[in-house]
Amino acid sequence: MLNWVDGVAQDSLALNNRGLAYGDGLFETIAVRARQPQLLARHLERLQLGCKRLALVADMLLVKDEIQRYAAQMGEGVLKLILTRGDSPRGYAAAPLASPYRILQAGPLPTYPLSHGAQGVQLFPCRTRLAEQPLLAGLKHLNRLEQVLARNEWSGGEFAEGLMCDSAGRVIEGVYSNLFLVRDGRLRTAGLQRCGVAGTLRAELLAQAPALSIASEVCDLSLADLAAADEVFVCNSVYGIWPVLACAEMNWPAGPLTRKLQTLASALLDL
Ligand SMILES: Cc1ncc(COP(=O)(O)O)c(C=O)c1O
Repeated sequence: MLNWVDGVAQDSLALNNRGLAYGDGLFETIAVRARQPQLLARHLERLQLGCKRLALVADMLLVKDEIQRYAAQMGEGVLKLILTRGDSPRGYAAAPLASPYRILQAGPLPTYPLSHGAQGVQLFPCRTRLAEQPLLAGLKHLNRLEQVLARNEWSGGEFAEGLMCDSAGRVIEGVYSNLFLVRDGRLRTAGLQRCGVAGTLRAELLAQAPALSIASEVCDLSLADLAAADEVFVCNSVYGIWPVLACAEMNWPAGPLTRKLQTLASALLDL
């Protein structure tokens, strides 16, 4: 499947693109199954918040229409949308009217071991910390160097994901997932007002929890909270939910609430 730039098949961009020079832009990674982009409304919601924070002027109806048409052609896979502020001469100042590029790329769905979902995974305790920046917190912006550093802290198949804390030591998320814990039947996940990416599946799980009579809480989480948890899981919009069995010296079972939410996530993502 060819890449699209602004709705037209195209494979290259000018070298003075601000996405390349400064990471000046946003992206979304969207699972496509049966020609449908999954959780599209949530992806567009996060993108729109990012556009507002970065003062990027994008036509969201056009973005939505292009994603839907591209997904219909892909059939199945991972659709990546990149929105960059466009081109500019050297220097951080952006031309006020620079119109963003809309880049669409198709890739295969990742093939993770079935045991990740069926049995659970181990998390690598990453040394790389997430820096606090409220202006960018929650967004899926193009600067992902913290995740690049963290992901390169381990290799091999023993660890499916990493655990990331912020510079104050609070538990925030995985390297490419959000993290939830369960304590006394209550679902808890980190607040992402200082750092972290506000996942689309995280948002959907929090929104649907009340209908399943599950109490949930968005709050600061410490390593002590994690150690005291009854269940822990990680989630993202491509693979759904993986129970977490261990991280460093901590261990948890793949518990009933995780299993219940796995069923919900599978339905939401057409897994
Ligand atoms: C750093 C980070 N956090 C969380 C997520 C989960 O986001 P989503 O549920 O939208 O896939 C991702 C997804 O790639 C991510 O890269």
